[in-house]
Amino acid sequence: MRTDTRMVHCGPGFDAATGAIGLPIHLSSTFRQDAPGVYRGYDYARTANPTRSAVEAALAELEGGARGLLFGSGMAALTALFSLLDSGERVVVGDDVYGGTYRVLDKVFKRFGLVTTFVDTTDLGRLEAEMRGARLLLLESPSNPLLRVTDIRRASALAHAHGCLVAVDNTFMTPYLQRPLALGADIVVHSATKYLGGHSDLVAGALVTADEEVGARLHAIENATGGILDPFSSWLLLRGIRTLAVRMERQQANAARIAQWLAHQAWVARVYYPGLAEQLGQDVQLAQAEGAGAIVTFELASAAERDGFVAGLRIFQLAESLGAIESLINVPALMTHASVPAARRQMLGISEGLIRLSVGIEDADDLVEDLDAAAREMAARVDLR
Ligand SMILES: Cc1ncc(COP(=O)(O)O)c(C=O)c1O
Repeated sequence: MRTDTRMVHCGPGFDAATGAIGLPIHLSSTFRQDAPGVYRGYDYARTANPTRSAVEAALAELEGGARGLLFGSGMAALTALFSLLDSGERVVVGDDVYGGTYRVLDKVFKRFGLVTTFVDTTDLGRLEAEMRGARLLLLESPSNPLLRVTDIRRASALAHAHGCLVAVDNTFMTPYLQRPLALGADIVVHSATKYLGGHSDLVAGALVTADEEVGARLHAIENATGGILDPFSSWLLLRGIRTLAVRMERQQANAARIAQWLAHQAWVARVYYPGLAEQLGQDVQLAQAEGAGAIVTFELASAAERDGFVAGLRIFQLAESLGAIESLINVPALMTHASVPAARRQMLGISEGLIRLSVGIEDADDLVEDLDAAAREMAARVDLR
């Protein structure tokens, strides 16, 4: 079966007991045992729940992994991932990862003795120099918010040569566009809040592992620490995943159109989109993924006009998050990446005039017209001064 078909039919085709096509939601927190310690696969719902298990298996299949695990948020999934390491061990992380990933390492895991090295993972020479003695490499490709592309295959090979596990945050791409395990990674991370859920009505996270042993270790951590996804959210997530292919196709096409258009606007200083020919890493992106995705970041020529520009938009909503059917606009320096210290943001290029668009499934003409109208209002205001 081709990817689009597998996505529509992922999960159990129907319920064996009733024939229900929709996935049953099992709310029970506990399960009857036939004798002490003898049970039918489920004993207590923190450890496993039939609805969650079905969606975990579906996501594992789509990512090409051995084991899927669902969490109450992407951050809960990342917390379980970092909990694989012992105090004193070192994790190497891309330097422009999601602000919350930076924060949990800097504010929480540092207190428990985990050592983090932030590095530009697109530069394989610099990455190799940091690999000696590292236990875990976490990549985001494309990264958030500057959409920098790391060669997952080559980075994984470098890490493995040093006995280091490789995790890839695949939130921006989803298994529809990119399957990191096939490129050599050991673990895939998702904020399933984003494209997998797809409707701004769910907060969820996921890990998928290439092998059972790492999966079992992560499940033991999840069961011990308890950051699980509840049955209703698991059900919502499967419903989202089943339409991922059509949503992603439309969102990606809209994003490509907007990126091309922005690249020709005088009020835009720079566009970041891994589908543009002038973007560094475009060749790697198109070799390791089925497209460039649906996030477009750009720099306003006049950062001082930022708030006026944002206020002039009618369709793009100013909100955190990304990946859902409606288009959103975000100012990383003040929103998603506010937890990254200002000096660090400046060093990375996350300026006050940087804007990240999450392009939705609306009509592309309406989206371009919305941006154009806000830019015209902005230009009129600037001319008045
Ligand atoms: C790339 C990436 N990873 C992880 C997260 C964290 O996920 P959540 O908000 O579901 O906890 C986010 C959230 O924006 C993200 O963009």
